[in-house]
Amino acid sequence: MNPAALSRVVILDFGSQYTQVIARRVRECQVYSEIVRCDISAAEIERLAPKGIILSGGPASVYDKGAPQIDLQIFSLGIPVLGICYGMQLMARHLGGEVEYSSRREYGAGILHLDEEARLFAGLGEQIDIWNSHGDKLTALPDGFRAIAHTENSAFAAIADGDRQLFALQFHPEVSHTPRGKEIIENFLFCICHCAMDWTMGSFIDDACARIREQVGEENVVLGLSGGVDSSVAAALLHKAIGEQLTCIFVNNGLLRENEAEIVQRVFGENFHIKLKYVDASERFLGALAGVTDPETKRKIIGREFIGVFEDAVVELAGSNNTSDSNFKFLAQGTLYPDVIESVAIGGNPASLIKSHHNVGGLPEKMHFQLVEPLRQLFKDEVRLAGQQLGLPNEIVHRQPFPGPGLAVRILGEVTVERLQILRDADTIVVSEMKASDWYYRVWQSFAVLLPVRSVGVMGDQRTYENTIALRIVESQDGMTADWVRMPYEILARISSRIVNEVRGVNRVCYDISTKPPSTIEWE
Ligand code: XMP
Repeated sequence: MNPAALSRVVILDFGSQYTQVIARRVRECQVYSEIVRCDISAAEIERLAPKGIILSGGPASVYDKGAPQIDLQIFSLGIPVLGICYGMQLMARHLGGEVEYSSRREYGAGILHLDEEARLFAGLGEQIDIWNSHGDKLTALPDGFRAIAHTENSAFAAIADGDRQLFALQFHPEVSHTPRGKEIIENFLFCICHCAMDWTMGSFIDDACARIREQVGEENVVLGLSGGVDSSVAAALLHKAIGEQLTCIFVNNGLLRENEAEIVQRVFGENFHIKLKYVDASERFLGALAGVTDPETKRKIIGREFIGVFEDAVVELAGSNNTSDSNFKFLAQGTLYPDVIESVAIGGNPASLIKSHHNVGGLPEKMHFQLVEPLRQLFKDEVRLAGQQLGLPNEIVHRQPFPGPGLAVRILGEVTVERLQILRDADTIVVSEMKASDWYYRVWQSFAVLLPVRSVGVMGDQRTYENTIALRIVESQDGMTADWVRMPYEILARISSRIVNEVRGVNRVCYDISTKPPSTIEWE
């Protein structure tokens, strides 16, 4: 399935924290969605030929100086438009309605009363629970519009101009706090925009394989495989597309968890028969880290050493093929959609804010690789689905995030072979107990941290003076914010007693009950 042939919906991003959620909701309905800058021109939108347009919410007031604007021609393209929150106010203000400025936001749950049978609300009955988060509000309808729903605070909570196919909502249908919001989005997509349900993982995989083959031709591709979800799915996809032209390099930096290197070699080397170069560089990394305690310095050293090891591995591979190192023209990376969404700075001068993402820090520039990024279109949950369909095992597809610098950022203070062993043993217990109790896949991350603190304990008749382990178990949607998990006490008790009894050198376990922000998930 060629993406140009898909039913596409474009979402103009006015800076809402929920813009990506809108895009995901649309894709959950099997319709391809794409986030574009809010200053996109009507002509550019026409070129994309979407079936529908959604205007996101945003933090600004339409009365703010420098508030993001919209090309008004967009409302005359004949393509259905759904404005949400700020998108509604912008639409209404420009089409002749009146928007009242408010310095206070209406925030929280409410009830929406549906005033008439509208296509947007088909099947929803007379009222639904909704979630509000808006400041300005509409006080007079724009020409040609009618109100199709109201709330206690607003006569115009949802408005429609059926002739011009323009619709707007003051509340947020995309968030889970609007439990039937997905049905509103479905009504927009299928009853109004007449989208086809053609965004499926099967069609994505076929299309991605065709595009990879077209991009790389007969050339060889190298990929830095970490064993994390993104690089693993990228590897499986590339292997399906180009088979032997792909070589993966897996670097054991000595900072991995128990059995991690073995799992990657088993899954990719033995099961998938992917060409895999395994490099054990543990000594090199640990040597470079000796005596270092500053967290940023540790990260820099690990990043630098990785590039060195990777470069050496590529040169060696090229040598063994008896060709020059330009043998590998392409470097594949598991870059995801949230890393490449282009956005406009809201509230200041619009400036292009393209987030850069280099899993393998600086390699493309230094080695003159061209990049292959086959997952650039996907959200994380879609990557997991792709991985499943490509036959990757659950232990890879649903694996918890693990930082590039590995256990080094979970050992506060100096990283030594002995301290690595203590942390690895404690971590193995955490993972096995989380899996055994079925909690492992329900949380975002669960791991052990080795603190630079020793404390007094007693074992038998002996006084001990040993290390402390902190447990970090958090839930999160995307790693940007997180909360500690209210774990059942019995599981915490079991993890704690096993660590203290089984891991030599530890006599105390603490549970980290801080949220992010202000704390971070990792300790360094
Ligand atoms: P923090 O500690 O910043 O972590 O709250 C947020 C999420 O990012 C992961 N993390 C990393 N992932 N390379 C990575 O690939 C890194 O250097 C890195 N540092 C933190 C962390 O595990 C959490 O999921």
